[in-house]
Amino acid sequence: MTTPPRPLALVTGASSGIGREIADRLAREGHDLVLAAEDEVGLAAAARRTGGRGVDVEQVVGDLRNGSAVEELAAAVGDRPVDVLVLDAGVGVGGPFVEQDVADVLSVVDLDVRSTVHLARLLLPGMVERARGRVLVLSSIAATMPGPHQAVYNASKSFVQSWAEALQRELSGTGVTVTSLMPGPVDTDFFARAGLVGSLMGKGPKDDPADVARAGVEALLAGKRKVYAASPLVKVVGGVNAVLPDGVKAVLHEQVAKLR
Ligand SMILES: NC(=O)c1ccc[n+]([C@@H]2O[C@H](COP(=O)([O-])OP(=O)(O)OC[C@H]3O[C@@H](n4cnc5c(N)ncnc54)[C@H](OP(=O)(O)O)[C@@H]3O)[C@@H](O)[C@H]2O)c1
Repeated sequence: MTTPPRPLALVTGASSGIGREIADRLAREGHDLVLAAEDEVGLAAAARRTGGRGVDVEQVVGDLRNGSAVEELAAAVGDRPVDVLVLDAGVGVGGPFVEQDVADVLSVVDLDVRSTVHLARLLLPGMVERARGRVLVLSSIAATMPGPHQAVYNASKSFVQSWAEALQRELSGTGVTVTSLMPGPVDTDFFARAGLVGSLMGKGPKDDPADVARAGVEALLAGKRKVYAASPLVKVVGGVNAVLPDGVKAVLHEQVAKLR
């Protein structure tokens, strides 16, 4: 009797932070992996770690802000069915909108929004055709509030959150599920890369990326619609934000995101 092939998971943003932990967790769950990121060295280290779990790991290096890199990543999968698609790659940028570097702002749109939609559009049809697949979208608690001093980032997460919830409806009954992972502040490179280390948010308590990844992968494999992760405080903020007026949330966000 031949052993059935292991399921395949493709993870973007796999070189660090939440994506790296998600990749490791999926490897422990017995998935072969296609790992994508821009940083070759970080990606190779992540691949060594997941490969140590006894699964096959392929690395695809590319700047996903470019549509051609997204197409190359989708093509790297070849004919293999993708069972799990994790859309994690993302960056933020802090500061008042009119003072932000225009290239930094457009990077958020190109990576967090454009590449996410592009890769999903290339890989989802195959999943629907096979009537099998699980998609994890890295949204954020930021999707639940306007984000003064991080305006474009919060808007990008509102975009992917709305898009994921629409796909959940469109794909119901197809065998393909879409799960939105909504973390609060997580202890990764995110704040340094976004220039937000000096903000209250940057200095405040953060969740362990491994805990966030565990919650995300559990929700993904269970086919849940969304999960706030990982600490109880994040779940409380998610619940409270559902009823707070947007104007109040904007003032609160400004306080935590403003550089001190
Ligand atoms: N940390 C938080 O507080 C938090 C909270 C809620 C949601 N999130 C979301 O979680 C996701 C992962 O963030 P993280 O916190 O784990 O931060 P991170 O450690 O900085 O990870 C970001 C990942 O995205 C990849 N990436 C960045 N620019 C890229 C590009 N141009 N092309 C391809 N890949 C690129 C990075 O790869 P390279 O290093 O190779 O560039 C890295 O693997 C993001 O979508 C973020 O918005 C984070």
